[in-house]
Amino acid sequence: SVNAPSSTTGNQLHRSTRYSTKTVICFSLEYRPVPSVQSCSVPSAVFYSIPAVGGDSSSTIAVDDFTARLFRIHQQVLKEGRSQSVTLGLNRSDYMLDQGEDGTPSLKQIEINTFAASFGGLSSRTPDVHRHVLKAAGRLEESQRVLDNNPAAGLARAIATAWELYGSDRAVVMFLVEETQRNIFDQRYIEYELWKRNIHTIRRRFDDVYKTGSLDQDKRLFVDGKEVAVVYFRNGYMPQNYTSEQTWEARLMMERSLAAKCPDISTHLAGTKKVQQVLARPGVLERFFPGQPEVVEQVRATFAGLYTLDMGAEGDKTVEMALASPDRFVLKPQREGGGNNIYGSEICQVLEGVKHSSERTAYILMDKIRPAPVQNYLLRRDAPLRISNCLSELGVFGVYVRKGESMVMNECVGHLLRTKSSEHEDGGVAAGVAVLDNPLLV
Ligand SMILES: Nc1ncnc2c1ncn2[C@@H]1O[C@H](COP(=O)(O)OP(=O)(O)O)[C@@H](O)[C@H]1O
Ligand SMILES: [Mg+2]
Repeated sequence: SVNAPSSTTGNQLHRSTRYSTKTVICFSLEYRPVPSVQSCSVPSAVFYSIPAVGGDSSSTIAVDDFTARLFRIHQQVLKEGRSQSVTLGLNRSDYMLDQGEDGTPSLKQIEINTFAASFGGLSSRTPDVHRHVLKAAGRLEESQRVLDNNPAAGLARAIATAWELYGSDRAVVMFLVEETQRNIFDQRYIEYELWKRNIHTIRRRFDDVYKTGSLDQDKRLFVDGKEVAVVYFRNGYMPQNYTSEQTWEARLMMERSLAAKCPDISTHLAGTKKVQQVLARPGVLERFFPGQPEVVEQVRATFAGLYTLDMGAEGDKTVEMALASPDRFVLKPQREGGGNNIYGSEICQVLEGVKHSSERTAYILMDKIRPAPVQNYLLRRDAPLRISNCLSELGVFGVYVRKGESMVMNECVGHLLRTKSSEHEDGGVAAGVAVLDNPLLV
């Protein structure tokens, strides 16, 4: 999407829609359509106390039964002793440009994705699409202001580093993928980067791992007879991804193995919204950056207000605040993938129902970030092109590889811009709401 004059005629719009659509296809930027049936289960909440990131056993994280199940795997792996020595993180931290009270814009974090942070592949292609369309529209100068971006290369470099540290030429990188692989093209760009390095990749589902997977006596993971050095999860972050007990068993087997997992179970749990809220509490960042108050300050400046709904006076205050002005907040359950958050009057409905029970601790409350809307065109399949008020969300890809305690790689490898119409409160590209975009520096 590109800022465009509102004087554009219907005919011009029709031509640009066709032209841009063809460019998108030519540049291999595709996403498979939404299947007509989507399951949407809402599990009832149960609660466990778990150590927060950094092993603070005094902080408690309230969870629902999905998170509780993940936590049981975490406990089991800890009990057996972690066999994996290589840790691989491919994260994406998402931000919106908040207008602030006095109109000074600042980046505020929406969330950090530690599991299947997607669109690093496709966003490596979008700069070419926008540059080309801008040039064809006679806007050469603007086309040169579209930033270079290649997260696919950086993500693959991190996976390759983990693969090398694992130390077996025969071993493969396994992409653990969905039943219906809608975002396959996004993943393919990363796979091609690995093949370029002569690293063999395979794509398998939970079911394949359950049926053909095993651990040898050293806990090396074999799937279909191939030793797996790295498991890159692109599936498994939603309750509905776990369709049977076998799925859970397959997850547990991978977690117990020597293979580097992206993410491993503890990093998966660290990406929950509850942990995000705990990190924003006074004194918590200080534990992670001892003696570096300026770093703490810089990181904290990107946090929006995050509030606990734990039982007790502080949580009661959060409830009161949310009920008094729901439009200032977003209520978030421990879910990923878009479309789960609660806004506006629905916040009151939900909180009225759970405010007196510990069920409320399955949620956190967050200040709503308010970016200034920009007029823009969103090119979407089967939708007429028309100007709308748009909001953008900037994702920043960060990768790290650790061997034991030593950090081998820790880098920022690119970005993702997603833009949606301001009429939608929630929802990303996968949910069919946002489109892939590029920042145009002004
Ligand atoms: N604090 C917030 N202020 C404004 N919009 C938000 C806020 N939190 C989430 N959103 C919107 O909801 C979407 C989904 O929220 P997010 O926390 O990223 O959950 P998910 O894990 O489902 O992606 C975001 O992409 C953003 O558009
Ligand atoms: Mg998100």
